[in-house]
Amino acid sequence: MSAGNLAGKWTRKCGRTLLAIGSVTCVVFLFLDFLDAVLCVFFKVVDEFFEGEARTPCYCGNDGENKGMESETLSESESLYGRRNVLRKMGFLGFARKWEMYRKKKDGGDGSINGSLAVNRWSDCGCNSCVSWTKKGYDHKLHVVVTHLLHVRTEAPTGDEAVENVIFLHGFLSSSSFWTETVFGHLSESLKGHYRLFAVDLLGFGRSPKPNDSMYTLLDHVEMIDKSVISPFQLNSFHLVAHSMGCIIALALAAKYPNFVKSVTLVAPPYFPSAKDGTRTSLMALNKLAGKTLWPPLAFGKSVMSWYEHVGRCFCFLFCRNHRTWEMILKLLTLRSELSFTEVDLTRHTHHSAWHNMHNTICGGATSTDEHLEILNESRTVKVRIIHGDQDMEVPLECSKEMKMKFPELVELNIVRNADHISVIFHRAKDFAKDLEDIWASSRNCSI
Ligand SMILES: *[C@@H]1O[C@H](CO)[C@@H](O)[C@H](O)[C@H]1NC(C)=O
Ligand SMILES: *[C@@H]1O[C@H](CO)[C@@H](O)[C@H](O)[C@H]1NC(C)=O
Ligand SMILES: *[C@@H]1O[C@H](CO)[C@@H](O)[C@H](O)[C@H]1NC(C)=O
Repeated sequence: MSAGNLAGKWTRKCGRTLLAIGSVTCVVFLFLDFLDAVLCVFFKVVDEFFEGEARTPCYCGNDGENKGMESETLSESESLYGRRNVLRKMGFLGFARKWEMYRKKKDGGDGSINGSLAVNRWSDCGCNSCVSWTKKGYDHKLHVVVTHLLHVRTEAPTGDEAVENVIFLHGFLSSSSFWTETVFGHLSESLKGHYRLFAVDLLGFGRSPKPNDSMYTLLDHVEMIDKSVISPFQLNSFHLVAHSMGCIIALALAAKYPNFVKSVTLVAPPYFPSAKDGTRTSLMALNKLAGKTLWPPLAFGKSVMSWYEHVGRCFCFLFCRNHRTWEMILKLLTLRSELSFTEVDLTRHTHHSAWHNMHNTICGGATSTDEHLEILNESRTVKVRIIHGDQDMEVPLECSKEMKMKFPELVELNIVRNADHISVIFHRAKDFAKDLEDIWASSRNCSI
């Protein structure tokens, strides 16, 4: 058999396998399409039952009216709670509370605006830590961890000018702990000078507000950081450090305050050069970040959560709403008394906040990143430093390479070998802290 023959056979075999995989993928996602449509109707009915008129429309288009289904509503909700009976105690408590709320509303009660009950939806967790933000009244502000680092060996800071401010922004499904528990400890060892570090929980994550009526756009994030950090602390000069989704927000913030920003450090930024029309870019971002694929399982989960609103809401209902039970189970299984912050942060969101952050900030934000970079490129006040692991499966290294290619004067790219999306920081926290210090120090020299 000739080599050409062999190669031809091999190609045909390969083609058949790919075709088979392709059709399985197709069938699975077709099924999910169907499932999502069914769940859409389902959630509509149940939402109406618990919350009166459906207040948060979904994105499935007009699915017709669900009026006159009161009796079916009841049976639906029973099956719903039947499923949750596995987690008996909490499930029952949650049900009782919702039922009470529903009755109150029927009785014409005010729905107790300041009670935390009214703010979380029936499918979201109402535990103390999840709704703590509602108790501070309606002046919503982000949860900010402020850390002062004053190195003893340096000369005393002379007034406010010697203080360097740094704002840290985390990525999707994370919180300020992403920085405070990792890099902060290493920074304090060697920093020279007086630093004030602000690690924020972004809108919709961690201990920050998760308003049910916010659309979680890039503008919302910038506004909240303005309101929670920049205005109250009267910052007129700061460094920015951001990871993943936070990078999009950091660039928007930097473009808003090009004269305040002293340095921008981005770790694994999801960057997609804008096409001529904006919608294309966000769709491309969605395809690149959460393309429809069955393998590996994590990627499959990501695509399901990003493409299927109602299937995703089911997952949130199971995991986020019952995070305390899951945490307890996990602790028992692993014989630990404390969980790591990454495990805890994974469920600290509502479906509404995660869904909209994914679409409006990550995918929608991609359409304006070029604009923000152009502003920074023009102002020529800062450089954008990128740190990206070459094994990153969440945000491909190509993103950073493309940004570097498009803005060669502005961007400085540092590729870390054998590091993925998370380990680029976690497995080299000390080195990362050192990188940051170098970046901050060099920006100081520049401005002199
Ligand atoms: C509701 O808020 C008001 C002030 O805004 C406060 O006086 C009252 O105690 C709160 N009620 C409850 C049940 O928390
Ligand atoms: C959000 O929660 C508030 C407080 O209960 C409620 O009045 C409002 O209707 C809710 N908005 C949506 C869109 O669900
Ligand atoms: C960035 O700025 C430089 C000059 O500062 C300019 O030559 C270049 O065209 C700009 N790049 C983009 C993509 O706007």
